Amino acid sequence: MTVIDLEALRKVRQPVNDAWTLPPESYFVGSVFNAELEKIFKTDWLCVARQEQISAVGDFVSIDLPAQPIVIVRDKLGELHALSRVCLHRSMAIIEGDGNTTRFTCPYHNWTYELDGSLRSAPMMEGVVGFDKGKCQLPGFTVEIWQGFVFVSQADQPKPLAGQLKQLAARLEDYDFSRLEVIETLEFPAAYNWKILVENFMEAYHHIGIHQHTFQPVYPAKKAFVEYNRYEPWSILRMPGQAVEGGVNMFPNLKPEQRDELFAACVYPALLFAASASGAFWYQLEPVAADKMRLRIHVLAFPEIAAAMNEDNRAELKAAVSMIHAEDTEVNAGVWKGLQASVTRQGRLSLFEESIWHLNQLWLDRMYPHIT
Ligand code: FES
Ligand SMILES: [Fe+2]
Repeated sequence: MTVIDLEALRKVRQPVNDAWTLPPESYFVGSVFNAELEKIFKTDWLCVARQEQISAVGDFVSIDLPAQPIVIVRDKLGELHALSRVCLHRSMAIIEGDGNTTRFTCPYHNWTYELDGSLRSAPMMEGVVGFDKGKCQLPGFTVEIWQGFVFVSQADQPKPLAGQLKQLAARLEDYDFSRLEVIETLEFPAAYNWKILVENFMEAYHHIGIHQHTFQPVYPAKKAFVEYNRYEPWSILRMPGQAVEGGVNMFPNLKPEQRDELFAACVYPALLFAASASGAFWYQLEPVAADKMRLRIHVLAFPEIAAAMNEDNRAELKAAVSMIHAEDTEVNAGVWKGLQASVTRQGRLSLFEESIWHLNQLWLDRMYPHIT
């Protein structure tokens, strides 16, 4: 993977006030995405679900990690597993979607697996030399729950996630994130590189542009600031402003300055979430290729608040999410097209885009660790 000029990468590595954006090739070249598969997606912790989606025995959620279809499932002993959902026979997916089950039966030739991934039965395999169903087990990956988000790592011995996110967890203390549940989900087409979405999510500079009539009057770009620890894989963008008039009081324990702000956070590489005093959102993105991801935006709420909501409240929430996302999609799609133009070069970052600088350093740490 030598498509990116080393000088260009050194410009990304400069201190924030002297740094440039990632080179355009980082976004659209297939071999860069393939390297990201190895160095980021198969190594880092990826968020795959919320814990309430898999709270009961037999609950399962299917997820396509990049180049790795998996199922997260709670087995009969109450233990959580992240298993490959590729059948050990001839590689069909043993399950799709979400739900509750007692076992998984592959639809192709009916091989049946227990919830812990062991093979329970394989019909008409008598006489096959050396075949021992007792030795057949779906490969598994490491699972960790943090703030109610379920993470999976494909690394052999991943460094526990919670220890890397201590400072971020301290910032979230008053929000009680682990009690939130998904109450609405919206899915959007996203035919552009995953990093474009992450960058857009993590800066408020664009409130003066594409969100000038929506976010800017409430959360002005100039007031936003970034907190980060250079050596931990997260970033948080705080956007002081005004609490939404008449909104739900979702988080009653917030300090006064938290009550008036919106924050956006990223756990590198791909968990994005945001909260204000009146609501919380989780952007679930699953990169598929350099030019494509699956994108779902989930609305999160405490169960007692969700129970008190009527259809109008939910419709309003969904309309607000869709309106902001439509504005962001316009610029994300525009950036995607622009990055592929032959004259496009790296750009300069505003100091109001410090999170992007931080994310770029995390990307370089993984992809080009020798660039210092
Ligand atoms: S591929 Fe699954 S049973 Fe044959
Ligand atoms: Fe935006």
